[in-house]
Amino acid sequence: MAPAIDVLSSKNSDHVAATCKDYNISLGQFEDLRARAVEAKSVAYCPYSNFRVGCALLTADDSIVTGANVENASYPVGTCAERVTIGKAVTEGHRGKFKVIAVATDISPPASPCGMCRQFIREFCDLTMPILMFDKNHDYVVLRLEDLLPLSFGPEHLQIDRGS
Ligand code: THU
Repeated sequence: MAPAIDVLSSKNSDHVAATCKDYNISLGQFEDLRARAVEAKSVAYCPYSNFRVGCALLTADDSIVTGANVENASYPVGTCAERVTIGKAVTEGHRGKFKVIAVATDISPPASPCGMCRQFIREFCDLTMPILMFDKNHDYVVLRLEDLLPLSFGPEHLQIDRGS
């Protein structure tokens, strides 16, 4: 059976302090990421699903880049908030490993990044990077990328000698 996953409250200062300590995030960064991810839901373009997802990314230089899901009349063409945000950050010139990714939705309990986004995140982050997932009540779950995507494939695997 899968282990139980804690749902924490961003209104509980003990929960937030423990998360910040465990994942090496400042209290200010946690609150900024939460607020910016929640705010980013307002720019989601989701007329087909009506399911808003906001995302906030803490970059290597401690700036925050935000984004939201962008859907399309040809449904599979739509893009998740995480990939919109990471693509935006990369094309704004952010090249170092991202430090934290936060996502926010209007449901409860929190939603987690889809499989395709987990792989997309994998390209630009350490396996230990925390992913903060906020629900409609600002309760949250935090897990590391390696928890959401075990035994993953990444850029370093393409460097392994494959013989001649
Ligand atoms: N969505 C995201 O933006 N991120 C995820 O990780 C899961 C799903 C979006 C895609 C689509 O616009 C809507 O949520 C419903 O699937």
